[in-house]
Amino acid sequence: MTDFRTLDDLNPAGKRVLVRLDLNLPLQNGKVTDMTRLERSLPTLKELASKGAKVIVMAHLGRPVGTDKTLTLAPIALALKEALVPLPVHFCEGPQVLKGIEALGPGEILLLENIRFVPGEEKNDPAFAQEMAQWGDVYVNDAFSTAHRAHASTEGIAHLLPSYAGRLMEEELHALHMTLDNPKRPLMAIVGGAKVSTKLPLLENLLSKVDILVMCGAMANTFLAALGHDVGASLYEPDLISTAKGLLDKGREILLPVDVVVAQDLKDPYPRTCMIHEVKKEDKIFDIGPATVSHIYHKMSSSHTLLWNGPLGVFETLPFDHGTNAVAQAAAHLTREGSIVSVAGGGDTVAALAHAGVVDDFTYVSTAGGAFLEWLEGKPLPGVLALLKKR
Ligand code: 3PG
Repeated sequence: MTDFRTLDDLNPAGKRVLVRLDLNLPLQNGKVTDMTRLERSLPTLKELASKGAKVIVMAHLGRPVGTDKTLTLAPIALALKEALVPLPVHFCEGPQVLKGIEALGPGEILLLENIRFVPGEEKNDPAFAQEMAQWGDVYVNDAFSTAHRAHASTEGIAHLLPSYAGRLMEEELHALHMTLDNPKRPLMAIVGGAKVSTKLPLLENLLSKVDILVMCGAMANTFLAALGHDVGASLYEPDLISTAKGLLDKGREILLPVDVVVAQDLKDPYPRTCMIHEVKKEDKIFDIGPATVSHIYHKMSSSHTLLWNGPLGVFETLPFDHGTNAVAQAAAHLTREGSIVSVAGGGDTVAALAHAGVVDDFTYVSTAGGAFLEWLEGKPLPGVLALLKKR
């Protein structure tokens, strides 16, 4: 963490501070349906405004091709305004950027229109980064969840202005550091999700770093098949069996389901719990069983750090949420009593933990989806690299 300048190193009074946030929020009928990312961005905005900065916020929504008015940040501006009452929050579109910035007073916030409407943004066009650099005196990146993108507002600009990590970026980097780089061991990782093919680099990287890897979800079926188990009609990837064998042969401790909940399909009113060798031809595996939960709990109790990515079953469809809920509640319990540090992130994971009602009990839940996964894969994140202090 010493390699980054943070808001502690910045006196922003009277300065134009260009802040990159991730306000890529889910919307339904023009209303924000999950405010998590916005709420987690507020400490940086409030701190800068209270210290007298003129705050200019850059953010994106979706993946527009050119200017796509359905992806305007106008609804987000409204939500931001409400969340920051009584701070003055303005919103302005492309051509008015310079005027909007000129009119901005200390302690005021200006949200710019979807930065991806500008063609140079995703191309990380140096000319656009130069133009952007005229908008501010310093740059603060508080968008860890877009740090895997080398775009003008996440990477290019950081080389042109004095650059700082915002509070959320700082928190995310700290959590990741204490999980994979400097964990209190034993370190356990739980990886779930549907496909081995999408998580191969992640599994390879984790296997080289963790003490025990718990693998569940449909991706575990490929590993079970590699061990010679019949997974019935379950989703699995036959062409990845030899890859799975290679990973199993690495000599690392991998915990796979010993019992499962099976059904004919997700609407089947009679799901059945059975040992893995009792899975029948027509069965589809949709969750882990109680013996697996108890194995995981046993190993988790003797671990000191837990890293979690991916649900353990089809948690969105009841009753196949039992396994994910039980393990999530066990992790929450061990975290509350201080015996483990628990960090989770990536895609469906947060939804699964929210469903289990334990998000607030984890030591840290990342706001990142893709960036969290790329970090788990061991890939350098361009938005983070660009913040490193130049020596
Ligand atoms: C996200 O939602 O994960 C980030 O905002 C990045 O979005 P992107 O995948 O469209 O770059």
